[in-house]
Amino acid sequence: RQNERESLLIVLNFAKTFFQETLLQTDEGKSIGLSYFRERGFTNPTIEAFDLGYSLDQWDALLQEGSRRGYSRDLLEKAGLILSKENNKTFDRFRGRVMFPIHNVSGRVIAFGARILKADKTQPKYLNSPETTVYHKSQVLYGIFQAKQAIRQEDVCYLTEGYTDVISLHQAGIKNVVASSGTSLTTEQIRLIARFTPNVTILYDGDAAGIKAALRGLDMVLEEGLNLRLLLLPDGEDPDSYVHKVGADAFKLYIRNHSKDFIDFKASQWLAEAGDNPLKRAEGISDVCASITRIPDPLKRQTLSQRVAQVFHVSEQSVISEINRLLRQQQ
Ligand code: GTP
Ligand code: MN
Ligand code: MN
Ligand code: MN
Ligand code: MN
Repeated sequence: RQNERESLLIVLNFAKTFFQETLLQTDEGKSIGLSYFRERGFTNPTIEAFDLGYSLDQWDALLQEGSRRGYSRDLLEKAGLILSKENNKTFDRFRGRVMFPIHNVSGRVIAFGARILKADKTQPKYLNSPETTVYHKSQVLYGIFQAKQAIRQEDVCYLTEGYTDVISLHQAGIKNVVASSGTSLTTEQIRLIARFTPNVTILYDGDAAGIKAALRGLDMVLEEGLNLRLLLLPDGEDPDSYVHKVGADAFKLYIRNHSKDFIDFKASQWLAEAGDNPLKRAEGISDVCASITRIPDPLKRQTLSQRVAQVFHVSEQSVISEINRLLRQQQ
């Protein structure tokens, strides 16, 4: 087992280097991949820091180079780098895409995300490595290796949706940032963050999908006992587009001024929807209370009840009894 793991990590590292060399040293890599990254505003140090690369638009460029270097088809396939069809045709999984290596906490490459260059409805925008012996996507956070020191230093982790959100914020000097990369947030991912800080701020895209994902992640973060803030970006923006638009300082200021704790975040969603409708308000209070019941620490729950009462202009006693009712229900 240990042997297979190490072999996979070695072949994945070879692939990473091959994609990097393809990006920086081939005509196709430079004219297509590198100019794509340039258009997105990525600088050379950023491309280096994230080991970005490019896969040639050919059937078996990686397979051929890998075979030449003595890596077996079986190993390349176990690493998720090549695919075999019934007719025994074998070809590269990633072709004609910009490559985003996914590193584990200690910086070894365990998988790839790969983006098409031009919008194309017949293909997924991002293609990811399959699950392998070394890659379990529910346990991985994109960017954790590049971010972990800054997460400790700043004592907060910014959680985004996508690869390019991590990269653009990092380039702007905001380095304490990771992404769940297309999977909905998992408990394992939250525990990975908790190794470095108890504080999480969710920075999801300012669209309906982003709000939904934030609400889904919210209770899970609370359950792990972490402190949570949330920020909605302006509609249609994600951290990548917004930091390019306004710059690093304005982005930091935006986080400072617009991030909300989970009570304010949920309350503002509910109050916007409820208006004067008392039933809707009651539903909102109950919903916020339900999130409070996820928090393991009774003292924290107590303090937060006071806040809920203030925000919704109801008595603290009514909030406490709602929380207790929900807690009893859960037993
Ligand atoms: P850009 O368009 O490159 O800026 O990407 P984005 O990160 O803004 O993409 P989006 O907000 O649409 O999606 C967020 C994340 O979900 C991406 O970074 C990917 O990790 C993942 N994702 C998006 N589209 C796909 C897809 O078609 N397939 C898979 N497997 N993942 C996707
Ligand atoms: Mn490197
Ligand atoms: Mn989105
Ligand atoms: Mn996005
Ligand atoms: Mn984007």
